[in-house]
Formats: sequence, structure tokens, C-alpha cells
Amino acid sequence: MIIPVKWSDEGVLMLDQRLLPTEEKWLTLKTYNDVADGIRDMVVRGAPAIGVSAAYGIALGAKNFVGMAMTDFEDEIDYICEVLGKTRPTAVNLFWAIDRMKRTFAKAKAEGKSVSEIKQILLEDSKAIHEEDIESQRLIAQFGGELIENDSVVLTHCNAGALATGGVWGTALGVIRGAINQGKTVSVIADETRPYLQGARLTAWELDQDDIPVTLITDNMSGHIMKKGGVQAVVVGSDRIAANGDVANKIGTYMVAVLAKRHNIPFYVAAPLSTVDLNCPTGEEIPIEERDIREITHLKDIRLAPEGISVSNYAFDVTPNDLVTAIITEKGVARAPYTESLRKQFED
Ligand code: MRU
Repeated sequence: MIIPVKWSDEGVLMLDQRLLPTEEKWLTLKTYNDVADGIRDMVVRGAPAIGVSAAYGIALGAKNFVGMAMTDFEDEIDYICEVLGKTRPTAVNLFWAIDRMKRTFAKAKAEGKSVSEIKQILLEDSKAIHEEDIESQRLIAQFGGELIENDSVVLTHCNAGALATGGVWGTALGVIRGAINQGKTVSVIADETRPYLQGARLTAWELDQDDIPVTLITDNMSGHIMKKGGVQAVVVGSDRIAANGDVANKIGTYMVAVLAKRHNIPFYVAAPLSTVDLNCPTGEEIPIEERDIREITHLKDIRLAPEGISVSNYAFDVTPNDLVTAIITEKGVARAPYTESLRKQFED
């Protein structure tokens, strides 16, 4: 059972995902700045895992605060939230978790709690965020598993597994685990996911740990395999879903969705409601992270491209809602028109 981030009395524990699949090393992060660096530097990654980590980062920063004055404590919490909020821009789970922890703080303060009581309340809420995330993935696995037919080959992009969430299930990989738990035979095709190779390094490793059959391909092979009838469903996760059902996910997802449409293959998105951003009317408003071009020009220290050439490194793209067959959340399966179906899930 994979749980990539944990709370301990020594600090926040993170499985260093930069080293997988060759090394399984846990880091103990002792300050909120360490947690922010861990998110920025991809020690932890994947939208729900980033949200859980940010919540623990705030609880850790609160715990380390020295003093009794409420105004100083409040300033410190605001500052911690600001630092964590600047780590990665696309995954809305980060901002969702920060907002929730801020609301928890405000409520406790309004109730007249002391600094030390609020420290404990923030820690409890960060643990609750983590537990609720795992429970959401369990429900996504159940609802999504029902959509997968027996004897299916499911293609996935990036890593939307236990490693990318609070743990145990994952979103896209949760759907696959759910189908298998329902007695179906399922195997997986994992896109390697250039340039950061989350598919090759993380999805292949995670499925292999659970003995789920997985075949690794390069990103440019999926069209060929779909054309041959080798894929029955595509399931991906998401970093932010707009109110109209446009889906931001790892770069290359849009390409896969277009191919799936061309070959009449269902394209499912699995994500908790903490990934749905009703404040973003469409995908146009979703900020897209651009990362260090070295991820493309180099493989470790080996140069792959001429020095000084122009390079783009967009980390995410947006798949328009008309390419999305269904969005699976902890509340069930939402279908078009998503503006209504997603809003309804928040109301239920
Ligand atoms: O850059 P990453 O590795 O954080 O990107 C992760 C993804 O794009 C995942 O597909 C997404 O966060 C969903 S994780 C359940």
C-alpha cells in the first residue's frame, strides 16, 4: 500500500519521487519551507498529493511558531500560506487545501481558541484532509471501476496513482484498481510521459508493486496501438477541472483525448471534487505551469539538444470538455453538460 506523504512528530515524511524507481528514500521535512521546496522540486507531485502536503506544511509551520500573540501567529500563518501558494500554479488542490486550512484557522480564532489550541486544530484538519482524500479515491475507484469492461486494456498518461494522491488508490489508477477489485481482468498501457517521465518512472513502478500488468510505451505510440484496437478505454487524472468540464492535466493528455475520439474509445477523467474549480468558467482561465527547459534539453547531465536553442516546456495542457466521455468523482459519474452535472455534485 503506497502512501507518499505522512505526518510524524519529527516533521512531514515524503517519499522522494524524484528517485523512483531505482531508490525508495523517505525525507523528513522539518519546516514549512522544506515542504514548499518539496512541492516545488517534485519530491511530491500529483494534484491531490500536493494538496495534502500543503495542509501538512501549514500544520508544521503552525507547530513551529514560537510565541503566544494571536496577531503574530495569524501573520505567520498568512505568510506560510503565501509561500506554499507560490510553489506550483496549475494543481488547484494546492489552493483548495490552503483555503480550507485558512478557514479552519479563522473559525477557531473566532471561537476564541488559544494559539496552542489552534495549532492542534490545524494539525487535526490536515490529517482530516488526508483521510478524506483517501476516502474520495476509494469511492472514485468504485464508481470508475464500474465503467471499465472485463478484459480491457486501459491507457493512462502521467501518474495519477497512489503516488499522486493521499495514497492507497489513486484517481486514474484507482479506477483500474476498482475494476480489478470488482473481478475484472484489466491490463494497463502507460505512456512514458515526456519530459519528466512520470509514466515510466512512477506509473510502471506503482502498478508493478501491485502485480497489475503494465506495458510501457513512448508517448508517440498510442495512436498506432489505438488504431490496431489495442485500447478499450483511456483513464487520466486532472490538475484542475473548469466549471464547464475542460480538463487540465499533464502535457500530452489533449493529444491522447483527440486520438481516443478518432478511434471511438471512451476518455474518462478521474478526480476528487477538490480538483474541480468552479471559479474557473473554462479551461482558458487555468494557469499552465512552464518548467525548466533543462527537463527537455538534458537527460540527467547528458545534453540532448544544441546549446542555446529555443525550447518550450509546458507542464500541462487543457482537454476541451467535448472530448471527455465522463468525469468520475467521489460523488459519482458526471457527464455532459458538465456545467450542470459538476455543480450538482457539489450540491449533493
Ligand atoms: O507534474 P505532476 O507530476 O505533478 O503532474 C501530475 C499530473 O498531471 C496528474 O495526472 C494529476 O495531478 C492528477 S494526479 C491524481
